[in-house]
Amino acid sequence: MINQLIQKIKDKEATVGVIGLGYVGLPLVLEFGKAGFPVVGFDVDQNKVDRLNQGESYIKHIPSKSIEELLARGKQEFTTDVTKVSKMDCILICVPTPLDKNRTPDMTYIVSTARQISPHMVKGQMVILESTTYPGTTWGILATELEANSSLKAGEDFYLAYSPEREDPNNPNFSTATIPKVIGADSEKELEAANELYKAIVSKTVPVSNTMTAEATKLMENIFRSVNIALVNEMKIILDKMGIDVWEVIEAASTKPFGYMPFYPGPGLGGHCIPIDPFYLTWKAREYEVPTRFIELAGEVNVSMPQYVVEKILTALNSSGKSAKGSKILVLGVAYKKDVDDDRESTSYKIMEMLVNLGAEVEFNDPYIPVVGPKRDYPNFVGKKEVSLDKIESFDMTVILTDHSKYDYGDIVNRSKIIVDTRNACAPIKSPKIIKA
Ligand SMILES: NC(=O)c1ccc[n+]([C@@H]2O[C@H](COP(=O)([O-])OP(=O)(O)OC[C@H]3O[C@@H](n4cnc5c(N)ncnc54)[C@H](O)[C@@H]3O)[C@@H](O)[C@H]2O)c1
Repeated sequence: MINQLIQKIKDKEATVGVIGLGYVGLPLVLEFGKAGFPVVGFDVDQNKVDRLNQGESYIKHIPSKSIEELLARGKQEFTTDVTKVSKMDCILICVPTPLDKNRTPDMTYIVSTARQISPHMVKGQMVILESTTYPGTTWGILATELEANSSLKAGEDFYLAYSPEREDPNNPNFSTATIPKVIGADSEKELEAANELYKAIVSKTVPVSNTMTAEATKLMENIFRSVNIALVNEMKIILDKMGIDVWEVIEAASTKPFGYMPFYPGPGLGGHCIPIDPFYLTWKAREYEVPTRFIELAGEVNVSMPQYVVEKILTALNSSGKSAKGSKILVLGVAYKKDVDDDRESTSYKIMEMLVNLGAEVEFNDPYIPVVGPKRDYPNFVGKKEVSLDKIESFDMTVILTDHSKYDYGDIVNRSKIIVDTRNACAPIKSPKIIKA
């Protein structure tokens, strides 16, 4: 039966269902559509589905035109109707994998997706998990849930694979199609089928021995980032004490043509991946009684960065004869990184909260996030609106937390009383008003 599926994929007649139309799922829908596959995008969020069916994108770096073009091809649709899973040949799962309140992996989205789709699954389908997770999830949780809620057996009646997403939103140099895709499956035929599918949309596929290897590859990549970011954050603190500019050091070190890769310090880790994914491995490692000291240390350093920034802010206020209490502070950027409209896990909210708790009056500006949306951890900021940059002179201090390219840093420096710059955004401007943090 799997040979029939492989042939259908080769002929681009296999219908691809993508479950979860967020930062990862939506670009996949577009790529499979562009490659000529019939595609159905599934989401539980009716509002997202309605907007997509009207040709409207809700992600800044995905133009609405690409959705309109997809719909114009005629073989595509967006739906909340999970019964349509029965018509799919390949089902790609791209749902969230956050941490819960106790910082343990929250599998509820994967489990609920499996429970929703399994009653509608039919023999001969392939299910591929794309969500970031710990090794063992694909067969340990996904397969188990799919089997428990259907009369089908994994590897026999339906096929499984894991292929992690490496999306870097808004990176102009890499898109879904140009980033090599790692694929793992637990049998040769399943790997062949998944590989055929992704070969149609990416320039290079990287097949690996099994699903656990593919799951671990994704975690390796993000832990590598977390550890290296922690390292430069620590270097920033040490070098600052010595009166050395860490950014100049990084620039100089980057001229070494081998053995060095630049990472940049900042106000702490943000985004949906790097602050979260390492803890998927540390949690799983406990089962094997293996300590994960290095990974946890990196987490500790990164988590301490907001405190470091706040101390820099307090020192800067102090040197101009002010305290946090009663000072008016303007934060630039609540998105977790430059030029994106994603503020998940953004440390800006943490720093704003710490300043508010110290009695400061804090406002923010962000060209991509005019209003703070729902936030589990920061209910007090929900609904807060940005203030215009026209008001910059009325603040005691400007704090740059996200270095959006849209900002005119020369103008910001001119009009601010003091600037705390956590991103080296004001370089190469030299001014005694700028304090790097
Ligand atoms: N955002 C990134 O840059 C990125 C990069 C690599 C990997 N990842 C990983 O990819 C996965 C998805 O991340 P994302 O950023 O796309 O998340 P997202 O929050 O942007 O999108 C997830 C979507 O899934 C939908 N959803 C939730 N439960 C559902 C269900 N039962 N059925 C159908 N739809 C459902 C949500 O409504 C939402 O639209 C996560 O595991 C994440 O760690 C994300």
